Amino acid sequence: MNEKINALKKEIEEKLNEVKDINDLTEIKNTYLNKKGPVADLSNGLRDLSVDDKKTFGKALNDFKNDINSKIEELKNKFEEEELNKKLESEKIDISMPSMDIPVGSPAIVETIIEESEEFFIGMGYDILDGPEIELDKYNFEMLNLPKDHPARDAQDTYYLEGENLLLRSQTSPVQVRAMLKGEGKTPIRMLCPGKVYRREDINATHEQEFDQIEGLVIDKNISLSDLKGTIDAFVKYMYGENTETRFRPSYYPFTEPSVEIDMSCIYCDGSGCSMCKPKGWITICGAGMVHPNVLKMCGYDPEEWQGFAFGFGALRLAMLKYNMTDMRIIHENDLRETKNFDRKDVK
Ligand code: DAH
Repeated sequence: MNEKINALKKEIEEKLNEVKDINDLTEIKNTYLNKKGPVADLSNGLRDLSVDDKKTFGKALNDFKNDINSKIEELKNKFEEEELNKKLESEKIDISMPSMDIPVGSPAIVETIIEESEEFFIGMGYDILDGPEIELDKYNFEMLNLPKDHPARDAQDTYYLEGENLLLRSQTSPVQVRAMLKGEGKTPIRMLCPGKVYRREDINATHEQEFDQIEGLVIDKNISLSDLKGTIDAFVKYMYGENTETRFRPSYYPFTEPSVEIDMSCIYCDGSGCSMCKPKGWITICGAGMVHPNVLKMCGYDPEEWQGFAFGFGALRLAMLKYNMTDMRIIHENDLRETKNFDRKDVK
C-alpha cells in the first residue's frame, strides 16, 4: 500500500512540476482526483485491509491527499495571481499619454457678432427686442411706408405665405413698428433687434436666402442725424478699432427721410483697395436714416414732437469683416474652419 501511495505521489508531483497554467492544473485534478480516479481507487482499497492496516494506511493516504490538495491549491492561487497581474498590466491607463485630438466647437461667428453688438448697445441704454419671423405684410411693408403697389417692394423679393397678408419677414424693420405700437406714441424707444430675415435671392458669394440683420431704432425728442452718425461711428470703432472711420452717403429707403448708406474704412488695406473693399477702400455696412414722418404717424407718434433714427446692419457682413472672409456661403457649409474662428481681426 505504501508503495502504491508513494508511486502515485511521485507521479502526481512530477505532473504538477510540469504544470504551465490553470488548464493543466484542472486536467490533473480531473485525472487523479475524480471519484473513479487512482486516488479514489486507493481509498477504496482500504476496505480490504485489517483494522490496524486501515489505521496506518488510512492516515498515510489522508496525508497524501492533503499534501496533493494543498499543492494544487497553491498552484491555483499562483496562476490566478499571474492572470490578474497580466490583466492589470494590459489595462493600465498611462496618464502621461497625450489625449486624443477631439475637435471642439466654438460659438458660431454670426452669433458672436450679434452678442458683441448687443453688448455695445446695451451699454448705450438700448433694450434687446425680438419679433416674429412669420410677419404680417402690414408690419413688414405697409406701416413702414411701403403700400401694396410701392415699387421698392421689388427690391426685397419676399416669400409670401398663404396669400398676400402673411410672409417670412424680409427685414427686421417690422420690429420697429411693433416697438412703436407698444410705445403708444408716448414713450421714448432705444432698441436693438437682431434676427433672421428671408428673401428669394439667387445664392452666391455675397447673397443668401436666409440671413441675420441687426436693426436698431431710437425714438425721442430732439433726435437728429448727428445722433445717428455718432452712434454708428462709436459702434464701428468698438467693433473694428479706434482708427476705423465712417462716411454717410445719401440713399433711399421708404421708411426713412433722409436715408443714408454708411460705409466704414477698410480695415484690411490702407484705402488703396483689396479683395474686401474691392477697389474702393470703403465697405458698405449699414442702411439707415431718420424715421419717416409717415411711419411715425402710422405708429402713433406725432412727428412734430418726436423724431427718431433707425439703422440695419447685415450681421454676416459685420462677421466677414471681423474674420477676413470673402465668401459667406462657408458659414453654412459645416466648414471646420468656422469652428476655429478663421483669423479673427481683433483690433480692440
Ligand atoms: N431694412 C433695410 C434692408 O433690409 C435696412 C435698413 C435701412 C434698416 C434703413 C433701417 C433703416 O432701419 O433705417 O435693406
